Amino acid sequence: MKETNCYILGIESSCDDTAAAIINNGNVLSNVVATQKIHEEYGGVVPELASRAHQQNIVPVVHQALRKANIDKNQLSAIAYTRGPGLMGSLLVGASFSKSLAIGLGVPLIDVNHMQAHILAHFIKAGEQTPPNFPFLAMTISGGHTQIVKVTDYFSMEILGETIDDAVGEAFDKSAKILGLPYPGGPLIDRYAQNGNPKAYKFTKPKVNPMDFSFSGLKTAVLYFIEREVKNNPNFISENIQDICASLQYTIVDYLMDKLKNAVKHTGIKEIVIGGGVSANSGIRTAINEAKVKYQWKTHIPKFEYCTDNAAMIAMVGELKYKNNLFATDEAIANPRMKL
Ligand code: KG4
Ligand code: ZN
Repeated sequence: MKETNCYILGIESSCDDTAAAIINNGNVLSNVVATQKIHEEYGGVVPELASRAHQQNIVPVVHQALRKANIDKNQLSAIAYTRGPGLMGSLLVGASFSKSLAIGLGVPLIDVNHMQAHILAHFIKAGEQTPPNFPFLAMTISGGHTQIVKVTDYFSMEILGETIDDAVGEAFDKSAKILGLPYPGGPLIDRYAQNGNPKAYKFTKPKVNPMDFSFSGLKTAVLYFIEREVKNNPNFISENIQDICASLQYTIVDYLMDKLKNAVKHTGIKEIVIGGGVSANSGIRTAINEAKVKYQWKTHIPKFEYCTDNAAMIAMVGELKYKNNLFATDEAIANPRMKL
């Protein structure tokens, strides 16, 4: 890896957040995110509206990132953008913008895998936090993905297990929708869960391979449970929202932890990181901290702003790739199904 002082602009537009960030030797100089509110009223991300909002947001967001970092665009060493996975229309906005900007400035273009970025976000310098040592296990838990990955080097990753249907964020969001909560419901379930009884209701955990996940059955179980209870008491949800959310969150977190423990057993690796939007969840954060003590794991939990979608993680991967001379070719096209 070459030692050089570089300023990397990262651009993220894979789903419904338009984000830009500038990083300098692992230090985040700015990290701007424009969250698209328009999807709330539809109860989920509407791809067509997302790409349109990215078009609107991308120039102001990049300007703001440069202004906050207090650097001029001519100081940039390279442009890193999310190539995939994600929504095609959303990715195209970031990809096209980044290509044009790189050509305009005469700097290299770097393509970044969004899921790799959620993992490598742990190498962003963040106060006292130390980065993980290789090899480590990463559990990426977001609205689009649920995976356990064995990471042996920055760019050497092996998927050990993943969801066979919905992602864990979808399980949170879809259950929240059944409870009449707005999108995205994950953070709201988390908030209600704080004051509820996690053992009030029991939801069965789906059975799949030891390191794989399945969440579609849980969503159906929640739906049937709510329909049944509401038939007896129309106010069931409002009267019990805290207990319902606590029980649901407990089930999901326990399931995630079961899978992680299986992966530790399988690999013998006890250095653990989590990443992706659901790693902002207070239940999983507590469970990871408890496992650290109970099983002598070495654990790494990202700062909140680097959990959900952000461009600092894209810029971080950009910097690592820049220092390893890994650049995008001119043909690098957006790839909605990009693999790790
Ligand atoms: O990584 P992310 O921002 O976007 C994707 O790449 O999908 O993850 C978004 C997901 C959503 O499903 C959202 O409900 C969930 O992360 N999420 C949470 C929490 N904060 C965000 N789920 C549970 N508890 C939270 N505190
Ligand atoms: Zn994400």
